[in-house]
This record gives sequence, structure tokens and C-alpha cells, in this order.
Amino acid sequence: MVNLTRTFLRFILGGVSGQNFLGNPVIPLLLNLTPAKFRHKLALQLLGISPHYFIYLDKDRILSGQKVGSYLLNQEHYRNKESRHKISEKLVKPFVNKDMDVLDFGCGPGYLSCAVAKYAKSVIGTDISIGVIKCAEILNSGKNIKYVLGKMNGLSKFQDNRFDLIYTFAVFQHLNDLQFEKFLREFKRILKPGGKVICHIPIFSSPSINELANKRVESNILYRRIYIPMYYRKLDYVLKVIKESGFTLLNHYLGSKYLDCGDDICKQHIFELSN
Ligand SMILES: C[S@@+](CC[C@H](N)C(=O)[O-])C[C@H]1O[C@@H](n2cnc3c(N)ncnc32)[C@H](O)[C@@H]1O
Repeated sequence: MVNLTRTFLRFILGGVSGQNFLGNPVIPLLLNLTPAKFRHKLALQLLGISPHYFIYLDKDRILSGQKVGSYLLNQEHYRNKESRHKISEKLVKPFVNKDMDVLDFGCGPGYLSCAVAKYAKSVIGTDISIGVIKCAEILNSGKNIKYVLGKMNGLSKFQDNRFDLIYTFAVFQHLNDLQFEKFLREFKRILKPGGKVICHIPIFSSPSINELANKRVESNILYRRIYIPMYYRKLDYVLKVIKESGFTLLNHYLGSKYLDCGDDICKQHIFELSN
């Protein structure tokens, strides 16, 4: 019954332009209309029925036979907090100081924006999902944090030379090659001279393994409302795009070199770039 309700909710809430249901403008409306004391819980519940953020919910439920109640939602909330805290401490903090304006590209519910904000002058988290931006405002707000709704085709909301540091985790796998190339060029434009980029990019030796799933997402209305596509890339291609975008590659390593963050980012590739 719980499963049926979750699937039904995902379906009727629908998605807009290639995003899952959290991209629907009804979501912020729903959260705004909810009395303040229930908003935090509702934001967690909405993240809980999205496939992107609370990724261990279903697995945990299956393993333990538990229903998705407050207990599991809170567990995922704290797992996200903890894993983004580790990413911030180990991978981002060495590049930040209190004079810096930082961009969190594809910020999702804002756990990483919040973790990085204590070391920066300001953090802007941007995401194309209007619903997740609202969840970030509820769950991960801060005096020097601002969440901005982004666009699918570029970063025109931000002027040239605006940021000292841009980082992005678990986002590029959702962009096709054209978008990936476009956003790296956009990073170059909005980054100050000498600025740095830290980006997580999953690398696989056979990028075609996901074509079938992506075709489903593109062609099937139900899939489109629930999932967003995944793109895996080959290392030579990624290195070529980095070079063509005008960046210098400073460092390239596996996340596991510095962290054990409890999700697949640890096992994947991190690139540090300089403008
Ligand atoms: C798996 S989540 C990762 C969230 C966050 N970076 C983290 O690590 O917790 C991927 C996010 O990328 C966002 N996204 C996908 N395409 C985007 C684009 N073109 N511009 C900005 N955000 C995008 C999605 O809406 C989603 O919130």
C-alpha cells in the first residue's frame, strides 16, 4: 500500500522538462502552504520519494522489512549530512577561505552547500529543480548561503568572473555530452582568473551500458517523471573536454583516496582544475 501511494504520488506530481517530479512548481507551493512546524518533515518525505537523494531508503527498507517512516527519513537526512560533511572537509575545504565566493553546481537539497559555507564568504547553490531548491532552503539554510534556480542550458544568471571556486558532485552524470561540454565552458566564464573547480565525474570504460535506461527515460512518460538519465563517460573523452574548455588539470584521483563517505562518490573520479 505504501509502495502504491509513493508511485502514485510520483506519477501525479509529474516532472517538467526532463526532471523528476521534484521539478514540478507544485512542490514549492505545497511546502509554502504547509505550516512551518511540518515543513522540515514534508521536505524529507518529498526527498524520500525521489530516487536521487535518499538513495539508501529502498535498500534499507528491503533489508530490514521496515516501512519508510520518520526513522528512516531521519537516518538518510543524517547520512547525507555526514557524507557531505566529509566531502567538504577532505576535498573542498583545502581550496576555500573566508574571502571566497563559491558556487555549488547542482546543489540538490543543499547538504554540501551548508557544509562548505562555514569556510567561505558566500555559497550559492544552484539547481534546475525548483522543488529541491525549496527543500534546500528548508533543510540547509544559512546566513551566507543562497539557493538559485538554474537553467538547463547554461549559467546565464551569473556574470563573468563571479566565483573563486566552483564544485559539483553527483551532477555531471545527469548531463548529456553537449550539456557537459557547455557547462564546463560556462564554469570557465564565471570563474575568476586563477579560480579553481572541483568536479566529480563517474568514469566507466563502456559508456554505452546505460543507453537502454536513458532511452526509456526519454521515451516513456512514467519513467521521465520518476528518473533522470545517467551518462557514463570514458576518461580520454573527459580529459579532452577539460583541455578544450581551457582549464589546467591540477589533480585527478579516486574519491577513496581521501574519504569513505558512504556512497558511490568515494569510488569515482574527482578532477581538480585551475582557470
Ligand atoms: C544526485 S543529485 C546531487 C546533489 C548534490 N550535488 C549532492 O551531492 O548532494 C543531482 C542534482 O543535479 C541537479 N541537476 C541536474 N542537471 C542540472 C543542471 N543542468 N543544472 C543544475 N542542476 C542540475 C538535479 O536536479 C539534482 O538535484
